[in-house]
Amino acid sequence: MKEKDVITKIENVVYQILQKEGSGHDWWHIERVRRMAVRIADAEHANRFIVELAALLHDLIDDKLPENMKLDIHDVEQILERMGISDEDVLEIINIIQIISFRKQTPSSQLSLEAKVVQDADRLDAIGAIGIARTFAYAGAKGNLIYQPNDQKGTDAIGHFYDKLLKLKDLMNTATGKCLAEERHQYLHTYLEQFYREWNGLNELEN
Ligand code: ADP
Ligand code: NI
Repeated sequence: MKEKDVITKIENVVYQILQKEGSGHDWWHIERVRRMAVRIADAEHANRFIVELAALLHDLIDDKLPENMKLDIHDVEQILERMGISDEDVLEIINIIQIISFRKQTPSSQLSLEAKVVQDADRLDAIGAIGIARTFAYAGAKGNLIYQPNDQKGTDAIGHFYDKLLKLKDLMNTATGKCLAEERHQYLHTYLEQFYREWNGLNELEN
């Protein structure tokens, strides 16, 4: 099968599974990550085919997915094998998906260039205006609060900014990813500033 046809087929498989996902891992997250990953892959001279396929498949084994959408890693492997992708490429794609889905962090130095690229693209979708939207969508889907002042456990959405979002800029792997993360990271700070102003009853007129 031609590479372009493989991509279209995989795209359809993922779309069918994730189109109605409601906690921020929906098809549009996948589509944004895929587009961003390809952009970074080109800038970093990574293998575009591997990057695009891994980006499309990166969330299918995630524990955050509802049980009826989650696939086993062996299912993903089978899907790829059935498309006639080489064993070497299947192994690389499966590796990337596992690295992205595991909660524990693999040091950047141990990642392939393609894994670095997909991870950067995924992390970029967790910050900036869209990252903020996803964080509140996730909190809503899990029944968590928008903000719980002094919540040490940080189960509220604002707490997640400090637990994770604000740390992502310094975890970016590639030069392109780092550069793209800057503006989105700044926007998190701008957003939090305004959030607290409103929370504390300060408005534009009072300054
Ligand atoms: P990824 O898409 O990189 O796999 P995660 O699965 O860690 O990222 O998270 C997916 C989305 O859900 C992210 O946008 C993240 O901000 C949000 N999220 C994860 N955990 C929480 C949480 N405890 N509260 C609010 N949002 C969360
Ligand atoms: Ni993701």
